[in-house]
Amino acid sequence: MAAVTKPAGSAPHAVYVWEAPVRLWHWVMMFAMFVLFATGFLIGVPPPTVGGEAYNTFWFGYIRFAHFAAGYIFAVFLVLRVYWAFVGNKYAREIFLVPFSLFTAKFWKGLFSDIFFYLYMKKEPGSYEGHNPLAAVAMFFMYLLGSVWMILSGFALYGEGAGMGSWQHSWFTSWLQPLVGDSQQLHTYHRLGMWYLLIFSMVHMYMVVRQDVFTKETIISTMINGWRVQKP
Ligand code: HEM
Ligand code: HEM
Repeated sequence: MAAVTKPAGSAPHAVYVWEAPVRLWHWVMMFAMFVLFATGFLIGVPPPTVGGEAYNTFWFGYIRFAHFAAGYIFAVFLVLRVYWAFVGNKYAREIFLVPFSLFTAKFWKGLFSDIFFYLYMKKEPGSYEGHNPLAAVAMFFMYLLGSVWMILSGFALYGEGAGMGSWQHSWFTSWLQPLVGDSQQLHTYHRLGMWYLLIFSMVHMYMVVRQDVFTKETIISTMINGWRVQKP
């Protein structure tokens, strides 16, 4: 991979953490997820019928179309993100390797240190080039597993509409629907998944802003230009 140059004035210490594909994935995925939250919520709790001829407005059609388009983008970008975990730098692998970190004492020490820091019971934050252990745990158990569930259940719901014989039905609906019970259960668990991811997203946004204010390294700008820079 091409060498990366430090941004001007980045001394004394700067590490190139998030490569361009990870940053691009992060912001595209975030935008797709916002569309999925908004349209998914409207699908689950539909607005009262709009007056006039349905074909003159087609509002619900557009809402569902936006949900499916964002769903495809979300799924394709997650697959690309997994690919980048193999070919990217060591930080690109972090969130996928959390289950292995659980066996190291260093990880647990860092996790509790982070929890105490967030609870205002400890003054000094830990210093990390990649994610802190608390962020990594949430990213694996909430974001990653939550997203995989939304993609599996989303395509299984899609297969119901596309019908038997479609690839969505054969690959997803045919086994997942009987596994969870029936179509209604599938809707319910897909909807619950939204709240799981919504909680993650809201806490995550609070945490990154808080980290940026309280810690000695840059946080939010790192997801924009890639560099973790020690603050003066
Ligand atoms: C962050 C990811 C996602 C969120 C938050 C989300 C949210 C939702 C919600 C809340 C509903 C309404 C469920 C109900 O109460 O009936 C829904 C329905 C649905 N979603 Fe998703 N979804 C996501 C990803 C996906 C993906 C990846 C697909 C795949 C294309 C998908 C396809 C569908 C389909 C087919 C329906 C049913 C539409 C209908 O019954 O009219 N979703 N989604
Ligand atoms: C739907 C909303 C969002 C979701 C689901 C989300 C998800 C994620 C995930 C999964 C990562 C891990 C990246 C990796 O290691 O591959 C991450 C990192 C990050 N996100 Fe978000 N994000 C969201 C919104 C935001 C927003 C609005 C901001 C900025 C205000 C933000 C700032 C960051 C930063 C700074 C990191 C790197 C944190 C670190 O250095 O430890 N995110 N995000």
